[in-house]
Amino acid sequence: MTIVTSIEEMQAASKKEKAAGRTIGLVPTMGFLHEGHLSLVRAARKKADVAVVSIFVNPTQFGPREDFLTYPRDFERDAGMLEKEGVDYIFHPEAAEMYPEGYKTYVEVRDLEDKLCGKSRPGHFRGVCTVVHKLFQIVGPDWAFFGQKDAQQAIILQKMAGDLNLAVKIEVAPIVREPDGLAMSSRNTYLNPDERKAALVLSQSLREAEQAVRGGERRAEAVLGRIRETVGQQPLARIDYAEAVNTEDLSPVTEIVRGTLIALAVYIGKTRLIDNIVI
Ligand code: PAJ
Repeated sequence: MTIVTSIEEMQAASKKEKAAGRTIGLVPTMGFLHEGHLSLVRAARKKADVAVVSIFVNPTQFGPREDFLTYPRDFERDAGMLEKEGVDYIFHPEAAEMYPEGYKTYVEVRDLEDKLCGKSRPGHFRGVCTVVHKLFQIVGPDWAFFGQKDAQQAIILQKMAGDLNLAVKIEVAPIVREPDGLAMSSRNTYLNPDERKAALVLSQSLREAEQAVRGGERRAEAVLGRIRETVGQQPLARIDYAEAVNTEDLSPVTEIVRGTLIALAVYIGKTRLIDNIVI
């Protein structure tokens, strides 16, 4: 496993792999890896000859009052996990390498970036699209792997790749959960034991919603009302949004149909968690 910190070296390594006829799979991450990330790494290993994992806590996707400085980081631990998975390259640049002084260029996916998480995190998806586009240019992957956990992110990146005619194919992998149902997230480490228990309200309310739909309830407001009620009963939880949207343009639906995305963001104490299901 080779650890690369410079853009030039990463581009040279990719060029060499491609010249040898090998395909490349890229898994972009911000590190502090868990089984959710590793499921993407395994998918990349399976599909491509060469697996590249980027570890970069991207400053441009954090708002001024968000957790950029405190975001959990442990490169040594991450590198050990990736070595065991048989990853070929870790790309781990410094912020100044990715955004040198005088940096000016950003990628926006209009409209989609203002919905759901974009409402409470203005500029977030602009930062995500910019860094992912840069990573695509640096690594030149044949495939890139993202998690359904961040459903809006995956939809926006697919739109970006289509609109900008990027050669990369985007693969989206299912949400990996803890045994009790909590969606894995690097931010779960922020939770104290009481909050960790309270955080179950996300997956639990989504499961209830799914059951209601299975039971014949199709009215989005009724299903979302149940979710809000369940979350409302948990004193440590405060809802940011609960929405039922279509996966094309993320606009709200009144009737839940096959393929409807029910997305949820909830503050547990100070920690903002997200989860979703596709009906
Ligand atoms: P990060 O939160 O580290 O997540 C990296 C990838 O892992 C994302 O595609 C995310 O959807 C996926 N992932 C996280 N938790 C998951 C889970 N429980 N199950 C399945 N997949 C999961 O998302 C980012 O980083 C950044 O925005 C990034 C795309 C790297 C750009 O900076």
